[in-house]
Amino acid sequence: MKVLMTGGMGFIGSAVVRRCLADGHSVVNVDKVTYAASEETLATEAINPLYGWIQADICDAEIMNSVFKNARPDAVLHLAAETHVDRSIGEPAAFITTNIVGTYSLLEAAHAYWAGLLGAEKDEFRFLHVSTDEVYGSLGAEGLFTEKTAYTPNSPYAASKASADHLVRSWNRTYGLPAIITNCSNNFGPFQFPEKLIPVIIMKARNGEPIPIYGDGSNVREWLFVDDHAEALLQVVRNGKTGETYNVGSSDELTNLDVARRVCEALDDLEPRLDGASHADRITFVDDRPGHDFRYALDASKIANELGWQPRHSLDEALRETVRWYIENETWCTNIMDGNYRGERLGLAHGLAGGN
Ligand SMILES: NC(=O)c1ccc[n+]([C@@H]2O[C@H](COP(=O)([O-])OP(=O)(O)OC[C@H]3O[C@@H](n4cnc5c(N)ncnc54)[C@H](O)[C@@H]3O)[C@@H](O)[C@H]2O)c1
Repeated sequence: MKVLMTGGMGFIGSAVVRRCLADGHSVVNVDKVTYAASEETLATEAINPLYGWIQADICDAEIMNSVFKNARPDAVLHLAAETHVDRSIGEPAAFITTNIVGTYSLLEAAHAYWAGLLGAEKDEFRFLHVSTDEVYGSLGAEGLFTEKTAYTPNSPYAASKASADHLVRSWNRTYGLPAIITNCSNNFGPFQFPEKLIPVIIMKARNGEPIPIYGDGSNVREWLFVDDHAEALLQVVRNGKTGETYNVGSSDELTNLDVARRVCEALDDLEPRLDGASHADRITFVDDRPGHDFRYALDASKIANELGWQPRHSLDEALRETVRWYIENETWCTNIMDGNYRGERLGLAHGLAGGN
């Protein structure tokens, strides 16, 4: 399969690139290389003859048209996005531009390219849009989001992803573009920019700084190891039904406080503090994120029943391997932060203290 990826230098995208190459697919990766990305992330893959990349903005219609013309992909895996909820609170503009306008521009280019295909090439072409469970809004203590749950996004990030999902759906219904959407829960693993919860906990703990947990730490997220997500996406792009949506989740629900405790336990084991205390002693509660969704949890039975996908990694083992990866890859963290981000609090909405 010839894959056109967007956002392949980011956290999940790079895992998908690795999976594609391991499976023998060729990849052309279009990435703007924002603050959240680094060429270093795919340094090993850069020499693989199956891999090529173009530094470009998905909003640039002319470049996107020429990328399709030259790459002639069998499938698009669209992951490029602005992704940090806290940043979307402080500075939503980039989320509207990349996530909504960028998706529109990519859909237009994909549609023009697909319309010009013939026979099997046309029938087999797929556009996979990668989205999030956050579009569904927030749950109470009970219940699960299904693919039929109405969208009620609460953060600018979630609203921008929801908008993009609606555009993709409409390009399928209106123009027949063979598109599929996946909505996935929180991912964790290597190469995640150190502003997201798990790498923040690891970095703060290792630096001997307070580990900030929003509110009382009781907000619940479902955690999926990034390589399992990558496998799910390949399964969907190969065997999913066009026009459909698939939830991708693990059923591993944890409160943010539990996440912090588990990461600290792994650190206590892998890199104990010199004073003998637990890293968890550094957990500190800070002001909550404005509009902080209480709980996300997915019913992922459709992808399991229809496509046979299930996560292969256990939460505890994958979490431990992730902690180990961050310990062993301090230089990657330092380089990607590179003065752009110093672990400061983000998500200050109009001067109000905000999220984690
Ligand atoms: N991280 C999660 O837990 C999670 C969960 C569910 C869904 N998702 C979705 O998966 C996708 C990837 O998320 P991630 O966590 O890897 O994000 P990330 O922030 O690590 O990476 C995003 C990538 O997109 C690129 N990019 C951003 N704007 C671009 C533009 N205008 N043109 C071209 N490239 C651009 C960045 O340079 C980066 O490589 C996103 O669409 C996100 O909404 C993420």
